[in-house]
Amino acid sequence: MKELIHLKNISKACGGKLILDDLTLTIHENEFVTLLGPSGCGKTTTLRILGGFESPDKGQVLFGGRDITSLPPNKRNLNMVFQNYALFTHMTVADNIAFGLRIRKKDSAYITEKIRGALKLVNLEGFENRSVKTLSGGQQQRIAIARAIVNEPRVLLLDEPLGALDLKLRQDMQYELIRLKNELGITFVYVTHDQQEALTMSDTIVVMNQGCIQQTGSPEKIYNEPENAFVADFIGDSNLFAAVMVRDRLVAVGEFIKTDNNGCPDHPDSPPFIPS
Ligand SMILES: Nc1ncnc2c1ncn2[C@@H]1O[C@H](COP(=O)(O)OP(=O)(O)OP(=O)(O)O)[C@@H](O)[C@H]1O
Ligand SMILES: [Mg+2]
Repeated sequence: MKELIHLKNISKACGGKLILDDLTLTIHENEFVTLLGPSGCGKTTTLRILGGFESPDKGQVLFGGRDITSLPPNKRNLNMVFQNYALFTHMTVADNIAFGLRIRKKDSAYITEKIRGALKLVNLEGFENRSVKTLSGGQQQRIAIARAIVNEPRVLLLDEPLGALDLKLRQDMQYELIRLKNELGITFVYVTHDQQEALTMSDTIVVMNQGCIQQTGSPEKIYNEPENAFVADFIGDSNLFAAVMVRDRLVAVGEFIKTDNNGCPDHPDSPPFIPS
């Protein structure tokens, strides 16, 4: 896959506290990248820096090889769905969705069609004239997604976009987002607390803790081969044991030995084990 975005040695401090610590990350075209990590680890801050809503103290944001670190959000070819939706509450649903299209001077027939299609996608057909103030949290969240996707950006930044939805709707929206990615070739940078969601939707998962990346890799890699105890503990349900890795595929736990050769330490490939 072709490289699209490169976050290079990004650091950010707020109120004397380091929030992002020398973070480097490459995102490829049409990739679904998920930032996963505990509350306060810096996921939203990373998205905001990518979107141009915050600037890093150190480091660069490159888009297609071009330095966009100091470009404002509207000059970047990306759209963000915020964790708190950030809808215009004094406007109707239709005006919220049309906002970006009107700025780009699209004609009204095009806008009407786009609004209709986006509302169908998020399962809110007929909601055009409702005031945003009258919507439930889950409905507002879906309008925020609709508002972002009508612009067909090259990159969508989604900060916990399905957090307020019930399981059924959440699964439907997961499916629709993947379909959008495949149909429109949009690159997704996605934030979720939900490990299951991350494991099922992502091409690449970035596990973060305390402003640092702990591991980047495919869901299989992250799940099967966690690089450290934090990742092992954070992904899935784990029991952690102190052990010594004797060599590849051979681990000593206390006085026991475990190989992956169907659990047979006497396998001809295994050397004799001598506890120290
Ligand atoms: N403007 C700010 N001033 C001071 N501290 C800030 C500011 N913005 C963020 N922080 C702190 O930076 C850390 C990372 O915040 P961030 O919002 O990126 O976390 P997050 O990973 O998105 O968390 P959550 O999963 O709860 O949304 C937190 O400790 C937060 O309190
Ligand atoms: Mg957040």
